[in-house]
Amino acid sequence: MSKKLFETNKFAAVARRAVAEGIVLLKNDNDVLPLKEGTNIALFGRSQFNYYKSGTGSGGMVNTKYVIGVREALLKDERFTVNEELKKEYDEWIKDNPFDAGAGWASEPWFQKEMPVSKELAQRIAAVSDVAVILIGRTAGEDQDNSNAKGSYLLTDEEEQILTNVTAAFEKTVVLLNVGNTIDMKWVKKYNPSAVAYIWQGGQEGGLGVLDVISGDVNPSGRLADTIAEDIKDYPSTKNFAGKEFNIQQEDIYVGYRYFETFAKDKVLYPFGYGLSYTSFDIEADSFEKTDEGVIVKAVVTNTGKIKGQQVVQLYVSKPQGVLGNPSRELVAFAKTKELEKGEKEEIILTVTDYQLSSYDDCGATGYKNAYVMQKGTYTFYLGENVRCKTVAGTIENDENKLIKQLTQCLAPIKEFERLRPVQRQDGSFEEGFESVPTAVSSQDEKRNSNIPEEIKQEGDKGYKLIDVLDNKCSMDEFISQLSDEELCCIVRGEGMSSPKVTPGCGGAFGGVTDSLLEKGIPIGCCSDGPSGIRMDSGKKAFAMPNGACLASAWNLELTKELYNWEGLELRKNKIDVLLGPGMNLHRNPLNGRNFEYFSEDPYVTGKNAAAQLEGMHKYNVTGTIKHFALNTQETGRHTVEHIASERAIRELYLKGFEIAVKEAGAHAVMTTYGPVNGYYSSSSYDLVTEILRNEWGFKGVVMTDWWAKGGKTQSGDTKDMASIVRAQNDLYMVATSAIDNSNKDNLEEELKKGNVKRAELQRCAKNICRFVMEKPVFNRYIERDNEIDLQLANEADDEELVFDNLIDCRVGNSGVASIDSSEIKTGRNCSNLISVSFIERGNYKLNMKVRANASSKLAQIPLSIYKDKELVKMITLTGEDDKWQDIELMFNGCFMTFFLNFYFAQDGMEIKDLTIRYCK
Ligand code: BGC
Repeated sequence: MSKKLFETNKFAAVARRAVAEGIVLLKNDNDVLPLKEGTNIALFGRSQFNYYKSGTGSGGMVNTKYVIGVREALLKDERFTVNEELKKEYDEWIKDNPFDAGAGWASEPWFQKEMPVSKELAQRIAAVSDVAVILIGRTAGEDQDNSNAKGSYLLTDEEEQILTNVTAAFEKTVVLLNVGNTIDMKWVKKYNPSAVAYIWQGGQEGGLGVLDVISGDVNPSGRLADTIAEDIKDYPSTKNFAGKEFNIQQEDIYVGYRYFETFAKDKVLYPFGYGLSYTSFDIEADSFEKTDEGVIVKAVVTNTGKIKGQQVVQLYVSKPQGVLGNPSRELVAFAKTKELEKGEKEEIILTVTDYQLSSYDDCGATGYKNAYVMQKGTYTFYLGENVRCKTVAGTIENDENKLIKQLTQCLAPIKEFERLRPVQRQDGSFEEGFESVPTAVSSQDEKRNSNIPEEIKQEGDKGYKLIDVLDNKCSMDEFISQLSDEELCCIVRGEGMSSPKVTPGCGGAFGGVTDSLLEKGIPIGCCSDGPSGIRMDSGKKAFAMPNGACLASAWNLELTKELYNWEGLELRKNKIDVLLGPGMNLHRNPLNGRNFEYFSEDPYVTGKNAAAQLEGMHKYNVTGTIKHFALNTQETGRHTVEHIASERAIRELYLKGFEIAVKEAGAHAVMTTYGPVNGYYSSSSYDLVTEILRNEWGFKGVVMTDWWAKGGKTQSGDTKDMASIVRAQNDLYMVATSAIDNSNKDNLEEELKKGNVKRAELQRCAKNICRFVMEKPVFNRYIERDNEIDLQLANEADDEELVFDNLIDCRVGNSGVASIDSSEIKTGRNCSNLISVSFIERGNYKLNMKVRANASSKLAQIPLSIYKDKELVKMITLTGEDDKWQDIELMFNGCFMTFFLNFYFAQDGMEIKDLTIRYCK
């Protein structure tokens, strides 16, 4: 018997390490951390009961076997004790103050009610314990931005009360922030706790990673991947954030530290790249070399402190202002050392390309319009431990504006507006100036219409199967020539959610979604969420990962890669070809609800992290979907609000991470975003999906829409406008219930007949899809070749046990019919209801019921899985739009006088009524 491939304990060990490395220590007065052995800890804050493993929505719906929070981790460790009296107080209080999950999709509160901590209680506990550890928790997510309000970005009154009383009573107070993203930090100055750390949302191993850092088993090496400013108003994006119609990027490329380091250094509380360690390091620039391709810096890092630890080395460039203007610093390279013993040194080589040193000229001021240009002037490289580092590693002089890459105008704004640019004062500092943004000179439609591919003559079925393309028996074009118009229209429709054609409970099925496509040997690919691990709404367990902000803060790409090797294997085990992640939109504003799924305010950090995840998964030939392409910076009105930005900001900032993931990691699945960008829905933007992604970057994979996204132009966006989606070369519309029935009632057939979408455009998408599924494990399974890994994984048992929250007895007596009181069914998130159906007649039994959605968002996803005994028989996924009662009917065979039905709800928001089970011979 060969060695087991998928070992959850090894997966867990890497995840635990990643959490520990992602924790950012911001303050540690008098070395209060690490805690000494024997410390008695007074644990405050209700997040000790509900550690947030992730945020909410599709990116958080991983059904895990366990979640170890901070309290569980501390209680397990014999080196520490947890103050019993305080623990009991919390245990009692929580009985009357259970977790409030809200009323469904996007309605879970951002915070949970806290237990009040009086002065007396704090003093009593302080007298008998050594240190106070306060947990502060926050969530947010899809469809649910944060707000500058108490309980979201700001602390609640109860949290402030805890801080007031605990910091007054205790000499040592440690505050741990179990949050998806940065929050307001003004309180640190006010209450002056001894230590503060961002512990993020660390997935199912989160608490153990925290334990490792506070116990000193792991020396903290996390560094901020975002700037923390004094006030939310200091972020230049705040004034446009959460616009209901559009969100204008007036701050242009000056996002995060690019803004603060240029214009408002004094507004920063914690700079980008900042984080403390229990030891100290020296970072020296050993050599600096300019080559034809760029710059090579050799850094030497020495552990100058007393204990072992890791350091993150960061290299920034200060480009000349030239005629375009530039941020005063930009991150161009980073690396993390190994664990260095005290006194130990490590040499690190950092390389920077000329392309990274160039700026995008969208106005022609350099003499090169729509081109990346290295402007004339001095480039100074700063090496060190955060964006404020002072060591000059070297400088280069550029005598003239140098063309690095000539491109053409793409995605330029249609609307006129003023954008920020630096204006230098006499003393060399910068003040904010504004200039008109260059607007689009031609329309995307014209470009698209003059680049329609050549049509492949339809030949009808010639008996070629997709495998014949692989075996060189026919070309891809010959294979595609067999597809009828109906087949072409079907292949671009992904099916879902929870399609019975793929792994139960997954987001989507694509490829051979109809009988005739299947007959041609096109297998059905499977994709599922998401950035925090695999989401299977069937209730199947999967591993919950540390969130994007945590992984980015670890600055350890090798570790991320290793973690995503395991994720790749888990996908493979579950027969899922494509993960719907990583999420890689920028943290343009701290209030974006989905920041927890994304990495950073910086595109380089974002791109490198996404690339590492993809490379990790590619080991097992599965992949991730880089999303949301592009510019999803707010959840408010996410499927209609238009993002308006300059071409420069789009290319240098928003697209840069995606570009890195495509060019460096060979990304081959992309999800476009819901909203429009500069006039076109992203799903239908030819510039975005064809010109930039494919033509400029050489992307060869598949592009899918976000779930039930709109197509078309900003003013006329419609979920039925698939013609526009296909014309842009967005290959898959996700998702329809049935491709063959055109359940989404899209306009494809009609527009094809009218000639508004060309057959050649559909054929082009069909080729992309076929090429994609051919390269994925599903194809090898289908053709039964080279699938040893799958065969071995199939033999490795799942170590799952089924747990039920509710048992319901249902007896079908002489009348032949039994009703189940639907109020008995627990429809809350993650609830399993075991219904035992007993009967006196062997035969067939019919289940009838009515279901409807009750959700605040139209894009809510509300799944119900119905199992008979252990077999999944039906999945129903309603969206928020399904608010009318629908009839459900199912047949079961009953032969052993009892069978068991399990109703599993992966999310709140479904209502059920009139449930009956009837004997029908
Ligand atoms: C989200 C995507 C997600 C998809 C499928 C959408 O609502 O925006 O990120 O992958 O649902 O669950």
